[in-house]
Amino acid sequence: MMNANGDKSGLKYMGDGYYQDFIMVILKGVEIAMERILTIFTTIDFSCNKFEGHIPKSIGKLCLLHELNFSHNDLTGHIPSSLENLIKLEALELSWNNISGKIPEQLASLTFLEVLNFSQNHFVGPIPRGKQFDTFQNDMYNGNMGLCGPPLSKK
Ligand SMILES: *[C@@H]1O[C@H](CO)[C@@H](O)[C@H](O)[C@H]1NC(C)=O
Ligand SMILES: *[C@@H]1O[C@H](CO)[C@@H](O)[C@H](O)[C@H]1NC(C)=O
Ligand SMILES: *[C@@H]1O[C@H](CO)[C@@H](O)[C@H](O)[C@H]1NC(C)=O
Repeated sequence: MMNANGDKSGLKYMGDGYYQDFIMVILKGVEIAMERILTIFTTIDFSCNKFEGHIPKSIGKLCLLHELNFSHNDLTGHIPSSLENLIKLEALELSWNNISGKIPEQLASLTFLEVLNFSQNHFVGPIPRGKQFDTFQNDMYNGNMGLCGPPLSKK
């Protein structure tokens, strides 16, 4: 997930030779059955665990990551601005944690971001504007008493 210069010739699947791997994954909120796993399939789903502490800055090194789901944990601290380096990110789900502080402006530079859910945290301050942030509905910010600015009605 860190090596952007890896060999991309042809379709590669995880494992060598014969294998059978069947997993159910949730992509952008939709449950999908995968029978073979492409190496370009880069997603992290740590949802519904008991992880606590801060989101590590080093997550920002996973520049090939397409989806990140930390929903339903006990994460605290701020969103590291290093997440702006996840330039392939299509879905960022942080709902149901105790993450605080402002939503970094830098996240507005993630032009592939299609699904975002920051509900049920302790975020404060104005929601970033522009680009993808103009497409997210206000219920993606539910349960954050300190957030303000569009798309919320609170000034
Ligand atoms: C993240 O995980 C939760 C719980 O498993 C799921 O309900 C949600 O749809 C996932 N979010 C995305 C963006 O896939
Ligand atoms: C998360 O916040 C809730 C409500 O503010 C609190 O009851 C709970 O103890 C917090 N959990 C952690 C891990 O900080
Ligand atoms: C956002 O997360 C909340 C809490 O997990 C969930 O109720 C809501 O359906 C999610 N919204 C979308 C559009 O996925």
